[in-house]
Amino acid sequence: MIVFGSNSEVAQSFVEKILTEGEKFETIYLFTSSVEAIEKFAKHLEVKYLQHSEVIALDLMHPLDNSQWDYIQSNLLFCATGYLGLGTEEGLYNEKNVQKIIQINYAGLIPVLNYFAQKMERNRQGTIIVLSSVAGERGRQSNFIYGSAKAGLTAYLSGLRNYLFSKKVHVLTVKPGFMATKMTDGMPLNPALTASPMQAAQVIYRAYKSKKNQVYVLPIWRWIMLVIRNIPEFIFKKLKL
Ligand SMILES: NC(=O)c1ccc[n+]([C@@H]2O[C@H](COP(=O)([O-])OP(=O)(O)OC[C@H]3O[C@@H](n4cnc5c(N)ncnc54)[C@H](OP(=O)(O)O)[C@@H]3O)[C@@H](O)[C@H]2O)c1
Repeated sequence: MIVFGSNSEVAQSFVEKILTEGEKFETIYLFTSSVEAIEKFAKHLEVKYLQHSEVIALDLMHPLDNSQWDYIQSNLLFCATGYLGLGTEEGLYNEKNVQKIIQINYAGLIPVLNYFAQKMERNRQGTIIVLSSVAGERGRQSNFIYGSAKAGLTAYLSGLRNYLFSKKVHVLTVKPGFMATKMTDGMPLNPALTASPMQAAQVIYRAYKSKKNQVYVLPIWRWIMLVIRNIPEFIFKKLKL
């Protein structure tokens, strides 16, 4: 199994969930931009689940030589990389912030996903699970750089799923609303609209097992986004969302 963004609590909860369900992997490849931070989790997997893992540095801010991973074979890829960055008011004209949001959520990520997708295509089996966001469904004034990068990611995943269908590779797009993780630490989130990392992992695991194409982490977000998508633009542009 391959994990991108291994320090995400959602990624770690998903790994725990899948191991608790009894699935075994020769190696779990823990890709991370913070190698030291993941060591404790890697040790935990070894002690609790007797699960061998390998920590691999992945910084999406820098160009990557994918061929260094030619030795890795896996039928499952879970991607939780993401970067929220500054919202519009503080961050719209901050070049570094804008570059980082685009790079981590979209531009840096697509070539790496493509690389592993191609391996699965060759093997004619596998599942790719990627966390996108409801933010990608309609640009809102509060975070539309992040939202536009996630919109690009969602469109990419839709096309990839379509392309890989006849090659027996499945792609699951996860659309979280709010989740209580380090990304949202300190934000005043409505508890009724917010999932815990383990709740998210359970929903994603069920969607993975039932081969869903896309899933909202909390079902209520499906209805919220249905409304948001359908507000006429002449009204939408006046709203403070
Ligand atoms: N929390 C929410 O409310 C929410 C809502 C909608 C969508 N999402 C999406 O859900 C996913 C998981 O997010 P989360 O809430 O668990 O937030 P998070 O804890 O911030 O996780 C995102 C992970 O991305 C990885 N990352 C950051 N910068 C990177 C870089 N330069 N190169 C490679 N990896 C990098 C980090 O993992 P490493 O340290 O291991 O590299 C980080 O743990 C993300 O795609 C996020 O956009 C979250």
